[in-house]
Amino acid sequence: MLKFVHQAICDIRTTGSVFPSSPRLARAMTNSLRDHRGEKRILEVGPGTGAFTQAILSSLRGKDSLDIVEVNPVFCEHIERQLLAPFRARHSGMSIGLHQGPIESAALEGGYDFVICGLPFNNFPVALTQSIFAQILRLMRDGGELTYFEYAGVRAFKRPFVGPHGRERIAQFKAFTQKTAKSHHVTRSLVVANIPPALTVRLTKRRGNLEACSE
Ligand SMILES: C[S@@+](CC[C@H](N)C(=O)[O-])C[C@H]1O[C@@H](n2cnc3c(N)ncnc32)[C@H](O)[C@@H]1O
Repeated sequence: MLKFVHQAICDIRTTGSVFPSSPRLARAMTNSLRDHRGEKRILEVGPGTGAFTQAILSSLRGKDSLDIVEVNPVFCEHIERQLLAPFRARHSGMSIGLHQGPIESAALEGGYDFVICGLPFNNFPVALTQSIFAQILRLMRDGGELTYFEYAGVRAFKRPFVGPHGRERIAQFKAFTQKTAKSHHVTRSLVVANIPPALTVRLTKRRGNLEACSE
């Protein structure tokens, strides 16, 4: 927790929050992994100190695999030492990869069944959000599922404080997510037990559809 707060103070734009996500939000973000029957390939983006990583690791079975992409080297070192090294020691046959760097330029093979994404899209310029969505959709198989979250009511809360440029960015982000929801299947669900309460957004990729990831 202290490590997360410290990194948030150092770089609030990429960390995006002062507190790590709650166990209840982690459970909601990873529901589909526990329900899935058969082998699964998972990508986690932006694990921070590993609030979702723990829930992902506990869902892994047999020949499942997990790749993790995190831009902040302090968080990478933390989850490697606290979570991944102990997990690998207990499950030597399982493929668990950690990649330090931004997701938008990560060189990964793709074909993921599930992407669990902790990125603070509301803090990013819309062009960056679009390029990250484009990259994630490219990396997912058709019918694959992307789950990300946002804080409930965050855009309405911010709007009076951000000035005309900020309001324009909020409107562009809203238009982008609406377009995305038309091109793919999207559902949302509220998790109250988080500081602040959050909405999980679950996007199922339509066959061959990379649309709505750029303007
Ligand atoms: C809001 S924190 C979420 C951390 C954790 N998943 C949680 O919910 O507690 C966002 C995380 O995304 C990482 N991040 C931000 N931009 C990124 C990028 N372009 N590529 C990969 N990771 C990024 C940050 O360093 C941070 O760890």
